[in-house]
Amino acid sequence: MCGIVGVVGRADAAPRLLDALKRLEYRGYDSAGIATLVDGHVERRRAEGKLGNLAAVLEASPLPGTTGIGHTRWATHGAPVERNAHPHATARVAVVHNGIFENYAELRAELEQKGQVFETETDTETFCRLLDDLLANGATPEQAAAAALKRVHGAFAVAMMFAGEHKTLIAARQGAPLAIGFGEGEMFVGSDALALAPLTRRIAYLEEGDWVVLNEDGARFFDVQDNSVSRQVRTTAVSGAATGKGNYRHFMEKELHEHPAVIGDTLRQYLDPRTLEVNLPRLPFDPVKVPRLTMTACGSAFLAAQVGRYWIEHLARIPVDADVASELRYRDPPLPEGGAAILVSQSGETADTMAALKLLREKGQSVLAVVNVPESSMARESDATVLTVAGPEIGVASTKAFTAQLSVLACLAIGLGRKRRELSTLDEGRLTKALLEVPHKAAEVLERDAEIHALASEVAKARDVLFLGRGSLFPIAMEGALKLKEISYIHAEGYAAGEMKHGPIALIDSQVPVIAICPSGPLYEKTLSNLQEASARGGRIMAFTDAAGAPSLERFAERVIVLPEIDPFAQPILYAIPVQLLAYHVAVLKGTDVDQPRNLAKSVTVE
Ligand code: F6R
Repeated sequence: MCGIVGVVGRADAAPRLLDALKRLEYRGYDSAGIATLVDGHVERRRAEGKLGNLAAVLEASPLPGTTGIGHTRWATHGAPVERNAHPHATARVAVVHNGIFENYAELRAELEQKGQVFETETDTETFCRLLDDLLANGATPEQAAAAALKRVHGAFAVAMMFAGEHKTLIAARQGAPLAIGFGEGEMFVGSDALALAPLTRRIAYLEEGDWVVLNEDGARFFDVQDNSVSRQVRTTAVSGAATGKGNYRHFMEKELHEHPAVIGDTLRQYLDPRTLEVNLPRLPFDPVKVPRLTMTACGSAFLAAQVGRYWIEHLARIPVDADVASELRYRDPPLPEGGAAILVSQSGETADTMAALKLLREKGQSVLAVVNVPESSMARESDATVLTVAGPEIGVASTKAFTAQLSVLACLAIGLGRKRRELSTLDEGRLTKALLEVPHKAAEVLERDAEIHALASEVAKARDVLFLGRGSLFPIAMEGALKLKEISYIHAEGYAAGEMKHGPIALIDSQVPVIAICPSGPLYEKTLSNLQEASARGGRIMAFTDAAGAPSLERFAERVIVLPEIDPFAQPILYAIPVQLLAYHVAVLKGTDVDQPRNLAKSVTVE
């Protein structure tokens, strides 16, 4: 999973490609490279590591040329070293690629027999040498691209540049997104509209199996059978300006501080503050008749789905299965006729969730996607979409998108509960009122920054950390652990507090901070007992609670951070914020790369 970009332009391509790659760096940052055509020849510069290294290489050795392609890589095949960095090139052709060519090994063997000498272990080089072989045998670039695309399997997006073809790029999509940008006498291609935002807002998306020939006058689109087709050009709302860090040190810090606004903006879409009613979005299923819901997602989005499951089962009395997308796909669950699925994804591009989407639709389930990117593949391929209004999230660790997902799912649960007559208007009013209190209470949570920072100084010394929560706060404990692992590299586990005594209690000693998410509410006393079990074994209890919960906890907890009181229904949204903020401060104290933690990427477009 990587970011790709290309330009057939009138100005120097390299600086424009580098700028676009900065916007795509969230997709991967193991290595990067750019190739342009210089006097008809393919020239390239590549560097291992972050984009800054490529910028330094380009500064020392500038690359002229107005047509070019660029790439930022998240390694799949071959180590993240310069040799494996894209663009891959021969004298005839250069290629950048996102995704995987699954049958590359057999193609490589065939090409080696024909005399092609490989320099890397990558699947991309195989595609490049396949094109080279076709070109060497007299194919035109269009013929070579069409023929090569028919020989490869997998999920990918690819852009190709050809020696001697000064004003041409060819790009293709098969399972990974690709946006085509229309300029004034210039054309662009990129993994998403964000990459192209400063260059143009006039965008067309390739459909599954499409390929496209770009030259300075425009684009010619072809479908998977090579029929000439037209694709709609729309003006995207994505703005390059939305992607700055402002006065914050990190994107993650900025995005954490956007929680109140994002939760408010998202709630406003789906509930009316005057009537205290939920306006259910268009659903692709009948909420009264639907026999069962399947919820699926990956990572933090899956944790949001798990909270959603608690809410929907509790308020709407619909049975819900929740599975990580990479497991759902292979578990072969029996799915009921007339059943429906809810997918949750920030990017709307995660390959595992996309694969689950396809499977669920094949099995006759109606699919509702909760996504943050309106033009994403999931938004386009689902039966209906509900948008989170989080704006672009650049920090690799999800923050504001997570609380926006929770906000949508909370509204959905109330709306479904009403439709099924499981909730009275009175209940609806109480629950929506609680949700409407979240934005300003979220701002109050952010004001506890100094206390959370002090807690972080303790946690930063630990090697292992245990997060505990119960009920709808159990997924929030897991979110705390996931975030801490991701950006501080400290091992952490999120556990259901009641389950701790069945195993993890063996880990507890005076070195292991036990972070409890335990606001007052129906499960408070139970959680308290579990914490006392940990404390009795020397565990260091650090708790997030509210004023009503604080007195009992203060008797044995080392630290208690008191957060605003809120109806238990809305607690998961509010309590997600301090655990994310804690992870942020720990990571900063440990000096890790907060926005681009090692080995990760924002949008995981390989399975
Ligand atoms: C965690 C995180 C990831 C994503 C996951 C799904 O902080 O960011 O776990 O939540 O990769 O991504 P989306 O939501 O884009 O499908």
